[in-house]
Amino acid sequence: MNQATDEPVVRLEGVSKSFGDRTVVCGVDLVVPRGCCFGLLGPNGAGKTTTLRMIYGATAPSRGRVEVFGHDVTREPRAVRARLGMTLQEDALLEEVSPRANLRIFGRHHLLRDPELSKRVEELLDRLELRSHADLPVRALSGGFKRRLAIARSLMNRPELLVLDEPTTGLDPAVRQALWSSIRALRRSGTTILLTTHYMEEAERLCDRVAIFAEGRIVAEGSPAELIRCHLAAEALELEHDEDGGSKIPAALAMLASDPACVHALTIGSRTILYAADVAPLLARLHQSQNPDGHRAIARPANLEDVFLRLTGSSIAEQAA
Ligand SMILES: Nc1ncnc2c1ncn2[C@@H]1O[C@H](COP(=O)(O)OP(=O)(O)O)[C@@H](O)[C@H]1O
Ligand SMILES: [Mg+2]
Repeated sequence: MNQATDEPVVRLEGVSKSFGDRTVVCGVDLVVPRGCCFGLLGPNGAGKTTTLRMIYGATAPSRGRVEVFGHDVTREPRAVRARLGMTLQEDALLEEVSPRANLRIFGRHHLLRDPELSKRVEELLDRLELRSHADLPVRALSGGFKRRLAIARSLMNRPELLVLDEPTTGLDPAVRQALWSSIRALRRSGTTILLTTHYMEEAERLCDRVAIFAEGRIVAEGSPAELIRCHLAAEALELEHDEDGGSKIPAALAMLASDPACVHALTIGSRTILYAADVAPLLARLHQSQNPDGHRAIARPANLEDVFLRLTGSSIAEQAA
């Protein structure tokens, strides 16, 4: 591997963005390696879109440096844009013409000409599974088709980096699955992908690495498995308390939470989650305690949602205090 391919596709150093006196992105450092599917993960308002906008040069950082393909985006936006494709949440497609026409028009805009233009359009109609609807007006297409068309369009210039802002928000589960497989296929073909999502499951399924955003800052970064391993443990035991709405944690659960096997515990409303490398002994102890309330218990793998709760949400200690 030569130096050029080792160089990260995106590098942010100490990047902040303020609107008036409000800082919405604060001191972000980020490296997106080539060939990676990287997720910016966090709730609405966390600063994900603003961070993407600085990466594709739509807005300048208030502080810090944004480099894409080794170029400073603020100083050399053109050098970056030619090699980048992006699909935003509010992408405007041409509604009265077909997907094929949308792709042709966009391709011409990027100075593609036949026969290369036609070849590229046909290739993308297949790749994003749009062929069955290639000649209908876009306004007749479902949300999932429109989203795939928007992605196909952003791939017309064969970008090395594809930026996707909330690619599956608002889509139903089956359509989301189909889009996930398209995104995975792109990643396999070598395209570096940077996406935002507030769906933890999406990040877990698609992303090699994620940065978890909360209130404009990165609170954790790594592969989903790494984050789960270092902030929690492999397994979670979810327990429902009494339905009395009280905030007190039942004694049986407090006892389990203090078990040495339990690496962390948190309570949200009437639900307590215990984390351990193996939750079976905790579950056995719960049964032995002849717990009269019969707490409903579900054992499952720990996930990124848990990591987010751990890093930003309330903990059992706060609740118990
Ligand atoms: N142009 C702008 N002017 C003022 N505030 C903005 C602007 N763009 C975004 N914000 C604010 O910055 C915060 C982060 O927004 P955004 O980056 O869109 O978050 P996310 O994409 O994570 O939902 C929000 O509180 C939003 O209202
Ligand atoms: Mg956003």
